[in-house]
Amino acid sequence: MAATVLVVDDEETARMVISEFLRSKGYEVLEAGTLADARAVISKGVADIIILDVRLPDGYGPHLLTETSRLPLRPQVIIVTAHGEVSMAVEAMKNGAQDFMEKPIDLLELEKSVNRAAEVIFMRRELAHFRSNKDNLDEFIVGDTPQMKHILELAGRASESSVSVLITGPTGTGKEVLAKYIHRNGPRAGKPFIDINCPAIQPTMFESELFGHEAGSFTGATNKRNGLMEIADGGILFLDEISSMPVDLQAKFLRALEERAFRRVGGTNLIRVDVQVIAASNRDLKEMIARHEFREDLYYRLKVVDLDLPPLAERRQDIPELVGYMIRKFNKRLGANILDVSPAAMQALIDYDWPGNIRELSNAIERAVVFCDEPTIDLNHLPKDITK
Ligand SMILES: Nc1ncnc2c1ncn2[C@@H]1O[C@H](COP(=O)(O)OP(=O)(O)OP(=O)(O)O)[C@@H](O)[C@H]1O
Ligand SMILES: [Mg+2]
Repeated sequence: MAATVLVVDDEETARMVISEFLRSKGYEVLEAGTLADARAVISKGVADIIILDVRLPDGYGPHLLTETSRLPLRPQVIIVTAHGEVSMAVEAMKNGAQDFMEKPIDLLELEKSVNRAAEVIFMRRELAHFRSNKDNLDEFIVGDTPQMKHILELAGRASESSVSVLITGPTGTGKEVLAKYIHRNGPRAGKPFIDINCPAIQPTMFESELFGHEAGSFTGATNKRNGLMEIADGGILFLDEISSMPVDLQAKFLRALEERAFRRVGGTNLIRVDVQVIAASNRDLKEMIARHEFREDLYYRLKVVDLDLPPLAERRQDIPELVGYMIRKFNKRLGANILDVSPAAMQALIDYDWPGNIRELSNAIERAVVFCDEPTIDLNHLPKDITK
């Protein structure tokens, strides 16, 4: 992407000469004849480099430096002074300008100066890109289907009001990834995200895991212990595969949610917490309710906001974006350098039914990145089931 230069000069011919010259060198150029016009362009954040005349009809050019230094990607400023005004230029450099030149402008000098400024801009862009990629190694790809956009909108509202969220959907559709995304992007980011994998907890220990216990409350409980709900205070408690929560505990958990308070096992003190609950399940909770394996009252308490993730086969148009993201991720993790996917391979990825949903797609891409020695993933790098 080319850098955008804003040329600020009240003399129209001077401005045009500079603009034409820079355009011929491949820069995008914007023009302003007054301080006010320049300000309007700068505030939009579109100028990477500013060539700034000192004397403008409505004020002193370097005054803009206070504004530009406040922008997140600070534009590079080149000051243009009349002959003999060097002291002004020096002053401007102290205030954050990067370079200066005297009129009449030598276009080759100007080109050098603008190229230097562009290098700084490109380096910053690279760094910003690198940083954001690194932070988002485990991104949640929303894609382009209306259903997914709606889910994200609901999730946003749920985090603002801290109401309970129930995420459902078949295996591998991204329930856990979505829960983490809600945490990262909501007002509780920076507060705890406590992830409880319900099937992994022994049913007899569940209550004490969740609410904690007092010393001596049962055999083996030698010390007092805080429960996960207490540890999650201020943040989010994520109950993954909540269908595995023992039915007798479900009633106690429901009460804790309603009262925003609970007692430790063997304790009498009421402990108040501010916790947002996100629960996930790939089992059909309604069916479980019919069989009395899941409490209906808890179900309705949890699904204040109900996010039902679609199978991947219902959002095939998002496959190219998901694949692009996964290639970037696995390139970085595995030190590979895959650049793209052949049209035939992409078509196969789009046509396949993906019973394991996004997890299966992710595994297929990881495998392809491992097996592919060329820059392009082709049909022969994909699992046989997919290319059949
Ligand atoms: N929207 C998404 N964007 C990017 N990657 C995703 C997305 N959804 C899922 N994945 C990938 O798929 C994998 C499985 O997702 P996740 O663990 O969230 O599925 P799940 O719905 O919780 O499945 P299960 O019901 O089996 O627990 C993730 O580790 C991630 O690699
Ligand atoms: Mg999961």
